Amino acid sequence: MIDSTTALYGLIGSPVSGSRSPWIHNHVFETCGIPGAYLTFDIAPEALHDALRGFRALGVRGFNVTIPYKEAIIRELDHIDPAAARLGAVNTVVAAPEGWVGYNTDGPGLRAVIERHTGALAGRRVLVLGAGGASRGICGALMEAGVSEIAIWNRSPQRAEEMVRELSETQTGHTVLKAVTDSGVFQAYPLVINTTAVGMAPETEATPAAIGDLHPAAVVCDIVYKPHRTKLLRMAAEAGHPVIYGIEMLIEQALLAQKLWNGISDEQVDALRNALILEFEQFDK
Ligand code: ATR
Repeated sequence: MIDSTTALYGLIGSPVSGSRSPWIHNHVFETCGIPGAYLTFDIAPEALHDALRGFRALGVRGFNVTIPYKEAIIRELDHIDPAAARLGAVNTVVAAPEGWVGYNTDGPGLRAVIERHTGALAGRRVLVLGAGGASRGICGALMEAGVSEIAIWNRSPQRAEEMVRELSETQTGHTVLKAVTDSGVFQAYPLVINTTAVGMAPETEATPAAIGDLHPAAVVCDIVYKPHRTKLLRMAAEAGHPVIYGIEMLIEQALLAQKLWNGISDEQVDALRNALILEFEQFDK
């Protein structure tokens, strides 16, 4: 119940309508008995700074950041977690006693989900579909996890090449980075991750690439969670491949944010994850 002790949390971005984050976070507050409420705020670029001043003045306890502000938020922070600084993107802000601290829970969330399904990412070879903002964050997380190779396939090949150049400049590990164009390469990678929005409702019959045969042991992962079963994941599942649903990544980054905001325990995280996935599957068949 909302009362005078309720703390405000939220999501800033544009667009934010249709986000499932309020469903997740308000479920966490209710289940864990935390006096919080989570709302979405669709903010125009020219209003960002004023909106954030308002957040400070109102004592907002914590918030998430989505497209297009994951980079722009950094200059509004007092501190940034080193891993988020390396990724160059913040999706979670904690209002701590020492000021606002920015974190990135997208990368660790993705890593945790994939590793739970398929084992450690270190040394693995990954095919990433897409070369936009989401792809950059995901490639950064894969590099942090120590994958041996990332192949980037993009509709516009020159953008994949640019991304490879950019990632090569920042990398501190030994991941082999390459841009690939031939869709025949799909057969060569045992892990495929779609980082584009292709397949999202209402264009539910679209796939990010003409997917032919996959590696016999391929696991396919999609960041799109609306619909739950994207065309890409349906095709992969029908061909007998294990799939990882986008909602799992969204839930994982949200629960990591709740750990930062409210210190929920690993046991609470496990129980919440299972309950949320089950509920989502039921109402999003
Ligand atoms: P985001 O921040 O969500 O990643 P973005 O930076 O605009 O958004 O990147 C969108 C990604 O989706 C790009 O890789 C884009 O491919 P192009 O670089 O060729 O535009 C990809 N994309 C968008 N629409 C697509 C489509 N219909 N088919 C295949 N890829 C598509």
